[in-house]
Order: sequence, then structure tokens, then C-alpha cells
Amino acid sequence: MEKFIIKPCASLKGSVRIGGAKNAVLPVLAGALLTEEACTIRDVPNLSDVETMGELLISLGVSLDWNRENGIITASVGELKCCEAKYNLVGKLRASFLIMGPLLARLGEVRVPLPGGCAIGTRPVDLHLKGMAALGAQIEQTHGYMIAKAKKLKGAKIYLDFPSVGATENILMAAVLAEGQTIVENCAIEPEIVDLANFLNSAGADIRGAGTDTVKINGVKHLKGTDHTVIPDRIEAGTYMVAAAITKGDLHLTNVVTDHVKPVTAKLKEVNMQVKETAQGIRVFYEGDGQSVASDIKTLPYPGFPTDMQAPFMSLLATASGTSVITESIFENRFMQVGELKRMGADIKIESRSAVVEGVPRLMGAQVRATDLRAGAALVLAALQAEGTTEIGDIFHIDRGYQGLDVQLNRLGASITRCV
Ligand code: EPZ
Repeated sequence: MEKFIIKPCASLKGSVRIGGAKNAVLPVLAGALLTEEACTIRDVPNLSDVETMGELLISLGVSLDWNRENGIITASVGELKCCEAKYNLVGKLRASFLIMGPLLARLGEVRVPLPGGCAIGTRPVDLHLKGMAALGAQIEQTHGYMIAKAKKLKGAKIYLDFPSVGATENILMAAVLAEGQTIVENCAIEPEIVDLANFLNSAGADIRGAGTDTVKINGVKHLKGTDHTVIPDRIEAGTYMVAAAITKGDLHLTNVVTDHVKPVTAKLKEVNMQVKETAQGIRVFYEGDGQSVASDIKTLPYPGFPTDMQAPFMSLLATASGTSVITESIFENRFMQVGELKRMGADIKIESRSAVVEGVPRLMGAQVRATDLRAGAALVLAALQAEGTTEIGDIFHIDRGYQGLDVQLNRLGASITRCV
């Protein structure tokens, strides 16, 4: 298993282009199942999660060409041969569950293994299933599989008890080919939802209100092929912004939507970083002396502080002067990085859904391991300024969601070696 060996570095300096959003590409790839015509998806990052979703589509009979060099995937769905997702793929990638809506809409039947929990929580899918049932699907669970059947989905009014990103995406995709109008209330408003709606509308769907908490979908007979460039990855951008803060550096991020990183920008300014918009993107730099200052964080659905940035930002607050309280309100077990940060000398106490972080002057290099994607990224950031060498194991978690995080950071001045 590969690991990172990281030595402390000077301030990171330079420019980094942010790639396409993992959490936009995955639902868009699932959405390609809604049309038998070819779809071209651009600015696709070279990530193992995208690889897994591609394998899943191919297992369903999709012919998929992925040019990793220029980040373009062409998916020609044609006649779908199979309506069952393989257990080993769903187990690797929870987002595989997003094929439920499209396959139900296209084939009238879908069999998807119930995705198990993961490091950050039990990850239920009850809201996804509530939406499918509201659209007229019969749903049963048997031998670990969710089976949904419907001769023809019919538009319905659906209220989501929680603005779930995945459930909103699944319902939206199922509704585009349903008979009549579907109204989804209290739905997620993340930028990735808007990107999915833009992709589907460019293929002939009729979705109104994406990005607000009420979306109306008028069902259409069929979708045509389309060509779509996904939005930049706001979490990758936030991760590099925090890297600039931790190393008191000066980074210029290009291909970033400034609105999408507003919560991180606001927090970085609170801990006395400078964040300025430029013609090409965002410049994050440090002026002044001394440590960053503490700040409290509560993760919330968009446009609140994103849960995916909670762990990376904790690494910054671990050496800020003062006490920070970080409350994780989205997932029930998303403090897996705390134990590893404490091995590096961080002073953090977990109290129910909150972590109380007492800033220390400097962390110490240690042997640690990535427990999940964002916790792994947090450890890389922490290691950039730790005293001595840090070894991070299980870095396959990090490769799921960051394209060449080590390569990019080394280009900016870090000292990270990837080895077995
Ligand atoms: C998406 O996951 C993202 N993944 C996650 O990013 C992100 O953390 C999350 O949204 C929140 O922003 C992708 O887009 C592929 P949710 P998703 O459904 O859709 C509960 C990363 O690091 N819930 O909004 O699974 C759930 O338990 C990943 O890139 C139900 O109770 O998130 C959680 O507490 C991690 N029932 C909360 O809602 C349901 O049916 C948020 O989940 C569905 C969800």
C-alpha cells in the first residue's frame, strides 16, 4: 500500500489550476444513463472514484471512452443491457447509488446493493427511496439489494426531511422522464445540483429552480446526447486555500468559482489570512506575523461551511492561537482525523458532535494513516508545517478525491514523496 513521506516546507508559493468537481462528475455520469445518445463530459479529474463510476457504467453496457490526458469522457449508453449494479463496485463507491433514478426512469427496474456505511457515518438512503416511491416505484429489499420497479414513473410532490445532496440528485434524475410534473421541496442547493440540472437541461430535460430549495421538473419523453463541462471542485479549491494558510504562503488559484468557496474564504479571513479575487480566480496569502487566530466552525448544507472542508480546516486551527470549537452537523462520525492529529501533538477533545481544538505552537511529524478522503487531506496539510517527518499510510483514500495532491503541492514548494 502506498504512503506519503512528508517533510516540513517553507511557505507555498505559486499558481494552481483547480480541476473539475468530483461531486459533479459522479452524478453527471449517472445522468448520462438517461439517454441512449452519446454524452461528452469535460474537465473530468483523473480520480479513482471516477474510475469506479466508469467501471459501473461499463458493467451496465455503456461504451465509455476516457481520455485522461485532456479530461474528457464520452459515454455512449445505447441499449442498456443490465439494470443491476455490482456489489463490489457499490461497496467501493457510495455514489454508485445514483444510478437508481436513471435506471428506474429508463428501464422501469433497477437492482442496487444497499451501500454499506463508511468511515464518516451510516450513510442511509431512506430519502432516496422515499423519492422513488413517491414517483410510483415499488421498492423491496432482498438479500442486501434494493429492488425498485415502475412501469412508468409519475410526477409527484416530494418533501425531503433533510436537504440530502444524493437524494436530490437521484429524484431529479428519475423525474426528468416521468409523466407530468414533479416538485421537490426542501431539496439540496449545492452547486453540484445546479451543475447536474444544467447537464440534464442541455440534454433536453425541463428542470426549473435548481439551486433553490424547491425544484420543479416537467417530465419529457426522452433526452438527447449533450456536451457538458463540469464546474470546478470547490473542495479541492478550499483544500489548497487552507494549504496556503497553514504554510503562511501565497497561492493563486485559477478555474475556481469564487461564490462556491465563500464560506471557506470568510473563515480564512477570520483567522487573518488575506483572500483577494483576481481576474483569473482567487489569491490567498498571509500578511503580518505570528500564528493564525482561532475561530469556531459549524458545518451546514450549502451555502454554510461545507462538511468536506471540516477536517482540512481543523488542521489549520490545530496550530491557531486560542480555542476553536468545530461542530459537525452533517455526518455523525466525521472526526476520524482527530486521533491521527493528536498523534502529531494536536490538543483536541471530542464532545458529542463538537471538537474543541486548543491551538498548539507546532505539530510534530509522526506515523499516521488516512481513514477517509478528507481526513487524509487534513493530515497532508498538517504535515506541511509539522516538526520533523510525517508518514501517512492508506493514501488510496486521498487519491479518490484529489488528482495528484502530492505533485501539485511539491510544485508549490512542498516536500512529499510517494512510496510503497
Ligand atoms: C454528498 O454525499 C457528497 N458526495 C459528500 O462528499 C458530501 O460530504 C455530502 O454530499 C454533503 O455535502 C457526493 O456528492 C458523491 P447527503 P451524500 O445525502 O449525497 C443524511 C466527499 O468527501 N441522509 O447530503 O451522501 C446522511 O446520513 C464526500 O467528497 C439521510 O439521512 O450526502 C448525512 O447525515 C463525502 N438519508 C446527511 O443526510 C438519506 O437518504 C447528508 O448526506 C440521505 C442522506
